[in-house]
Amino acid sequence: MELETKISTTDLNLYYGAFQALTDVHIRIPARNVTAIIGPSGCGKSTLLRCFNRMNDLVERTRIEGRIVIDGQNILTPDTDLIALRQKVGMVFQRPNVFSLSIYNNLKFGLRIHNLLRRKDQIMQTIQEGLEHVGLWDDLKDKLHANAQSLTLEQQQRLCIARVLILRPDIILLDEPCSALDPIATLRIEELLRVLRTDYALIIVTHNMQQAARVSDFTGFMYLGRLIEFDETQRIFTNPAEPLTEDYIRGSFG
Ligand SMILES: Nc1ncnc2c1ncn2[C@@H]1O[C@H](COP(=O)(O)OP(=O)(O)OP(=O)(O)O)[C@@H](O)[C@H]1O
Ligand SMILES: [Mg+2]
Repeated sequence: MELETKISTTDLNLYYGAFQALTDVHIRIPARNVTAIIGPSGCGKSTLLRCFNRMNDLVERTRIEGRIVIDGQNILTPDTDLIALRQKVGMVFQRPNVFSLSIYNNLKFGLRIHNLLRRKDQIMQTIQEGLEHVGLWDDLKDKLHANAQSLTLEQQQRLCIARVLILRPDIILLDEPCSALDPIATLRIEELLRVLRTDYALIIVTHNMQQAARVSDFTGFMYLGRLIEFDETQRIFTNPAEPLTEDYIRGSFG
């Protein structure tokens, strides 16, 4: 079966000042799958992820060349609507970035930024659906006005995922989303990602190779700003084409 491509990059180069952080990256991210990006520290994983919703625009002295096409549109053109792009391409970070606001207002906040605020009963409905989607509704329905920072880290990370989901994205970027969590919470978040993959293109950066093997369908291995290899996860972990990938998988470096 031919996979639908959600994101494709061509000749992607990115410079921070004089330093080249990405070199000639060609990648095709499939729709409705989990793609893992692995590689040693500093190889450009986060940089690549941030290209997909143009978060690097916020970093000074960044220069980017090439093409990034999402649903047929090159998102690097100057007329790209960044608010719309960041709604379509949501992002979840390493530390759950909940605001010191109630659970309810954390969710309402994103709706407000993206002008999705409707009538009050509709807001409540949207918030309920978001919390249900990430398995938090039963636990939190009676304390929606509690401060979100009082939740466990796992709950906070789920809340961050809910905050992205209620904006109805197509793509969800996750930069080491479990690195602040304990192993049990990590496995539960991974289960959630497996469920979400039916409807979204998920891209997860991880240092944890077991996690990449468990959670992803496809894996890209990066090294020194280049995408060395991209293939089905099963293949990357059992029979990679590139010796460099093999060395990394075996733990020879990184
Ligand atoms: N704002 C910046 N200015 C200058 N150099 C940067 C900036 N951000 C990242 N870099 C450099 O770009 C390279 C890639 O960084 P990036 O954060 O994308 O790597 P990474 O693979 O995500 O690493 P890690 O696994 O440690 O998170 C690194 O050499 C880093 O030092
Ligand atoms: Mg990183």
